Amino acid sequence: AKEPVRVLVTGAAGQIGYALVPMIARGVMLGADQPVILHMLDIPPAAEALNGVKMELVDAAFPLLKGVVATTDVVEACTGVNVAVMVGGFPRKEGMERKDVMSKNVSIYKSQAFALEQHAAPNCKVLVVANPANTNALILKEFAPSIPAKNITCLTRLDHNRALGQISEKLNVQVSDVKNVIIWGNHSSSQYPDVNHATVMTPSGEKPVRKLVKDDAWLNGEFITTVQQRGAAIIKARKLSSALSAASAACDHIRDWVLGTPEGTWVSMGVYSDGSYNAPAGVIYSFPVTCKNGEWTIVQGLAIDEFSRKKLDLTGQELTEEKELAYSCLS
Ligand code: NAI
Repeated sequence: AKEPVRVLVTGAAGQIGYALVPMIARGVMLGADQPVILHMLDIPPAAEALNGVKMELVDAAFPLLKGVVATTDVVEACTGVNVAVMVGGFPRKEGMERKDVMSKNVSIYKSQAFALEQHAAPNCKVLVVANPANTNALILKEFAPSIPAKNITCLTRLDHNRALGQISEKLNVQVSDVKNVIIWGNHSSSQYPDVNHATVMTPSGEKPVRKLVKDDAWLNGEFITTVQQRGAAIIKARKLSSALSAASAACDHIRDWVLGTPEGTWVSMGVYSDGSYNAPAGVIYSFPVTCKNGEWTIVQGLAIDEFSRKKLDLTGQELTEEKELAYSCLS
């Protein structure tokens, strides 16, 4: 039998946490033969609710779930974890300045970086979900220098999956037949959902999305804005932000990272930029990646047209500005 993997979920008493922990305990994230021990962290005002989630996990009698740690102690939460999904953060409230929200999250991610660096298992894989996701991940990376930079990522898989969903609806094809869309840059409305290399499996073989959609105005306009603004549309409809789709995307992200992407398929992940595609280096930027043996690699050599170039630069610029803002909060 496999040794259990310890998975940390911060902000586990929140909305995404409530959708995510049962998925992990059912094997959606790491496989149906992989036992798990869940570590759940939240802050003291949410301690009672967190304990309620723990009670429900016991009541669900998940065969793969070998233990639950529910705590408000960061060190206890981080000890021995192999995977860390960082969902906890300070939300933007009405009337708050960007800088104030950034400042709160910088201090949270700085202290959680210290705890992970000192107490997580060696080679722990980190996924930051909480917004501003790319910059929170960058702060975590900066303050956990002994964790390899390649182990620290942020979630843009939800945006990637939203793009697949939009193409599948437009063409009336199965979403599982659509692949290789790309989310470039920031997990914010400046992100660039790119379909220039995306394909659909049809009865007569793989076809480019551009050839099948035949509606460039839609692909260059409404498609992009729909994906960019989908989060706001969900809030408007549900009066709450996306939770089940975010939790599902977090499972997809970790599963593909650990178990590998299928041959010929890439996915989008926010990773520490080496300047590929002339994106700014030294920020967490979303790229197309393939994964093998627990490591991601940026897909190289894709053609970037002029329309795309501008969009890659714009979202890169926003990330550089966010980085500066985050650093100004440190001093
Ligand atoms: P929520 O407000 O329901 O839950 C957040 C939880 O984090 C709360 O239980 C809160 O007590 C906890 N928390 C706050 N500070 C903490 C700390 N220092 N340590 C541990 N826990 C802490 O929010 P929800 O809906 O679950 O969303 C969580 C985050 O995910 C938000 O920042 C949201 O913007 C972000 N998000 C990111 C997406 C992505 O695609 N990257 C998609 C959807 C949401």
